[in-house]
Amino acid sequence: MNQYIIKGGKSLAGEVTIGGAKNAALGILAGAIMTDDEVTIENLPDVSDINALLEAIKAIGAKVDRIDAHTVKISGASIHSTVVDYDYIQKIRASYYLLGALLGKYGKASVAMPGGCKIGSRPIDQHIKGFKALGAKVVTENSMINASVNNLRGSHIFLDMVSVGATINIMLAAVMAQGQTIIENVAKEPHIVDVANFLNSMGANIKGAGTDVIRIRGVERLHGSTYSCIPDQIEAGTFMCLATATKGDITLKNVIPKHLEAITAKLVEIGADIIENDDSVRVVCKDRPGSAIVKTRVYPGFPTDMQPQITVVLATADGVSTINENIWEDRFKYVAELRKMGAVITVEGSTAFVEGQPKLSPAVMEAPDLRAGAALTIAALQADGVSILTDIEYIERGYEKFDEKLRSLGAEIMKVDSEDYKAVQKFKLEIV
Ligand code: UD1
Repeated sequence: MNQYIIKGGKSLAGEVTIGGAKNAALGILAGAIMTDDEVTIENLPDVSDINALLEAIKAIGAKVDRIDAHTVKISGASIHSTVVDYDYIQKIRASYYLLGALLGKYGKASVAMPGGCKIGSRPIDQHIKGFKALGAKVVTENSMINASVNNLRGSHIFLDMVSVGATINIMLAAVMAQGQTIIENVAKEPHIVDVANFLNSMGANIKGAGTDVIRIRGVERLHGSTYSCIPDQIEAGTFMCLATATKGDITLKNVIPKHLEAITAKLVEIGADIIENDDSVRVVCKDRPGSAIVKTRVYPGFPTDMQPQITVVLATADGVSTINENIWEDRFKYVAELRKMGAVITVEGSTAFVEGQPKLSPAVMEAPDLRAGAALTIAALQADGVSILTDIEYIERGYEKFDEKLRSLGAEIMKVDSEDYKAVQKFKLEIV
């Protein structure tokens, strides 16, 4: 197990290049197995969630060639199984996209039932509703979801709630269904558009991604493609919060500023200066941020995946802020860790009330999940003194070379084995 040791208190400045979007790449990689031709995916983030899905894809027989850290070639021609067992689902929940992809390509798929997770129970009833509407028989037996059909038929589907996962999964299943599928009340996140663009580059006929209604005309077959994933909106947003929290000056390269609008607007509201260019954004913050009201919403609203990071920024704001979490019921677990740093936060149901403090103090903390882990790193980087953050494997699920990128901005942060007390002492001596 690794941990970060962090000496905080510095304003961080410099340039950082943002990687490919993890959540887009997960849908894209699943879609890549739907043709027997070779597919090349570029700008793939080199993070453990992506590597786990590639393992699941290999396990069903697809050929996976990692050309370099950010490029993979996939060939679905050699797939010999349509069964994805619990080991993979447990490592990466998004393995459930193989349900839609395999059902769409072969008319059958068995995928282990995903459990809940640390941010709340995560039902998949809408995914199943979509598959059934396309004519599939879906039976859950011994914790496996078994879906089968002779021929998928296009259908009119109205999702009961906006779900990123269900939108992508149903889209995957429908691209080779006979006739037209209309999916209403779909998610509009940039990663939905990216998965649709990718499938279209393979010959699919998907229209409307990025709006509330997606229309798909089924095609006979999909063909090979070379496709580059969009930049990661959440990695970018995390560095934007870092600049604001440490009163820094950070330029993010390889971003799509439009995807960051909700985050940009909130940071400007609390006092950051944000300069947008075609594919870069500079965030400068000189003063203590002001307080704000934040409500997480589906895109284009403020993303739930940015909720812990903005809460950390507001923990040192001048005034009382309110953060209302509307997507996941259990996403304030990290608040207990933040309190160890002197943050004054009370949580009532899905709302956190944050009484901003001039500074947070260093502490020893545990990363409870991916985004909260990144948020606690930001908190430690703004506090004067040495903090320790354990369980950073969560952070590595979604942030590539996080510590390296932070060091390039001037941060004093080191990744050490949790058992390696000597390294911890040495780091403290060198920097204190
Ligand atoms: C959600 C976020 C996504 C984020 C991810 C991880 C939204 C819309 N989606 O995506 O941006 O990257 O969490 O934090 O903000 N639901 C059901 N039944 C279903 C599917 C979903 O009840 O079949 C509910 C979920 O319990 C949740 C909500 O719908 O409350 C959103 O779920 P969904 O968008 O599917 O989650 P993710 O795809 O994981």
